[in-house]
Amino acid sequence: MLRSHHCGALNESHSQTEVTLAGWVQKVRNKGFIVWTDLRDRYGITQLVFDEDRSPAEVYKKSLTLGREDVIQIKGMVIERESKNPNMPTGGIEILVRELTVLNAAKTPPFTIENQTDGGDELRMQYRYLDLRRTPVRENLIFRHKVTMAIRNFLSQADFIDVETPYLIKSTPEGARDFVVPSRMNNGQFYALPQSPQTFKQLLMVAGFDKYFQIVKCFRDEDLRADRQPEFTQIDCEMTFVDQEDVLQQFENLIKHLLKEIKGIQHGDFPRMTYYEALQKYGNDKPDIRFGMTFGELNAFAQNKGFNVFDSQALVVGIAVKGGASLTRKEIDRWIDWVKRPQVGAKGLVWVKYNEDGTFKSSVDKFFNAEDLARWAEATGAKPGDLIFVMAGKTHETRVQLSALRMEIATQMGLRKPDEFAALWVTDFPLLEWEEETQRYHAMHHPFTAPKKEQLKLLDKNPEKAMANAYDLVLNGNEIGGGSIRIHDTELQEKIFTLLGFTKEDARKQFGFLMDAFQYGAPPHGGIALGLDRLVAILGGSETIRDFIAFPKNNNGRDVMIDAPAALEEEQLHELFLKSIPKDPL
Ligand code: AMO
Repeated sequence: MLRSHHCGALNESHSQTEVTLAGWVQKVRNKGFIVWTDLRDRYGITQLVFDEDRSPAEVYKKSLTLGREDVIQIKGMVIERESKNPNMPTGGIEILVRELTVLNAAKTPPFTIENQTDGGDELRMQYRYLDLRRTPVRENLIFRHKVTMAIRNFLSQADFIDVETPYLIKSTPEGARDFVVPSRMNNGQFYALPQSPQTFKQLLMVAGFDKYFQIVKCFRDEDLRADRQPEFTQIDCEMTFVDQEDVLQQFENLIKHLLKEIKGIQHGDFPRMTYYEALQKYGNDKPDIRFGMTFGELNAFAQNKGFNVFDSQALVVGIAVKGGASLTRKEIDRWIDWVKRPQVGAKGLVWVKYNEDGTFKSSVDKFFNAEDLARWAEATGAKPGDLIFVMAGKTHETRVQLSALRMEIATQMGLRKPDEFAALWVTDFPLLEWEEETQRYHAMHHPFTAPKKEQLKLLDKNPEKAMANAYDLVLNGNEIGGGSIRIHDTELQEKIFTLLGFTKEDARKQFGFLMDAFQYGAPPHGGIALGLDRLVAILGGSETIRDFIAFPKNNNGRDVMIDAPAALEEEQLHELFLKSIPKDPL
């Protein structure tokens, strides 16, 4: 063994014990006649002493050459420190070193391996293995491990079976582009990496597995954001002989269990909201319900009063900002500029101060009297001392813009507390969505989602009115899961493919295997997939999933450490039939 203890293990109870430690040099402090060194490993930091008087001369001499991140092994005696550090588990002791071996000398690292590092994002990603040595980064990954283990145990105990499904498959449409892999053995043909194991988990239900789960990588070629990576991990689950209620109960219990186990929090039953209600009240199908500021629709009290900006619009809608009446004109103008940024794209904001004394002051005093504004206050839930912001425009667009404002105000006011958790289910999504660009319907969840039974009739005449038997799980304003009850008969599946614009032949070619399977005794089934990266990040108090992934990609989808993606050698391109071999000029 290269060590007798790890670097977080020793305390006063080990005094006068001979130990062997190994690790990385975190810090060297040379006081002239005594050298103190912090030795670090995954478990902690132990202080080493090289003393001109008490350590062997050659050991003391060698200690003078130690640098940051050298990997060393030492032998020595545990002694009590003169001045103890009560904030460190090993703060009561130090090791008086009598033997020092440098196992591997290190170049000076390009940034400091400290909790607060001087390294920028790009540099840390380039040397991610050094970044991972930093305690906060390592702790995030250990935290992820804990969450993953808790999930595995919970699902296994609930009779879910972990089954692996293939990565080299055919397109599984989840709304993004596929990453594809050329096949050397099949000229001109490609595998697609799974956007999710959707069709395979359904086949496992046909096969009688009853309850399946997999913690699985999924691949989606889409624009990246803080909560999106091109490869990410799902907790993918499917159940047989269930209806929506069974799935919601099962996974509500999982999330409650995690909150209890990991955060020590007892979360009550999750509220449920229809998709339409979420849009109407929060302008968003993944509402953060930890703070109020729900939308108040003002059409009835704000239109036909001579204010043109409102009269011609489909929706006039407002929110109340707690305590906002004390904002200065400059501060209000800053918010107006904020909503006009291209990322939000609103034309402007009308504001109303509901003063502490009950009077109103607004940017539209010319058109609206106190009685009108009192109605606005009532509809938005504004109280004396609050400020009302109002937007008008096309219904959906305006809701989305006001939602962006609501979230930003809440962030700036500190209302989005990372240690407070509020989950909810969003249900009753439309089955299909009309896409102007392609002039086609596309499946709001995915093409395997069943319509609500009572709405099957709508498919023939008013397909856009049909609701899906689908649900999303939302935590603190983030979509952390989505699922549905599936279609399990060939005829209905064919009908949906037709509505989605597939020809019979195309549907057969792409999904014939699934429709065939449905003819051999497919049971009713449904499931859900949770985004593990998002779930872990939110439980860990962040919304940036990159911080909880060991080797993430940057926003251009690049791994800057290994420098991928990269070009292929000509020879490999030929072998994969991606480039024809130039003709021999002779
Ligand atoms: P869906 O597409 O909703 O459903 O995905 C499920 C969950 O996966 C997470 N997620 C992502 N996380 C990080 N980066 C991404 N690019 C990314 N894309 C999605 C989200 C999302 O809620 N097969 C269906 C599930 C089912 O019907 O059972 C599916 O994949 O948290």
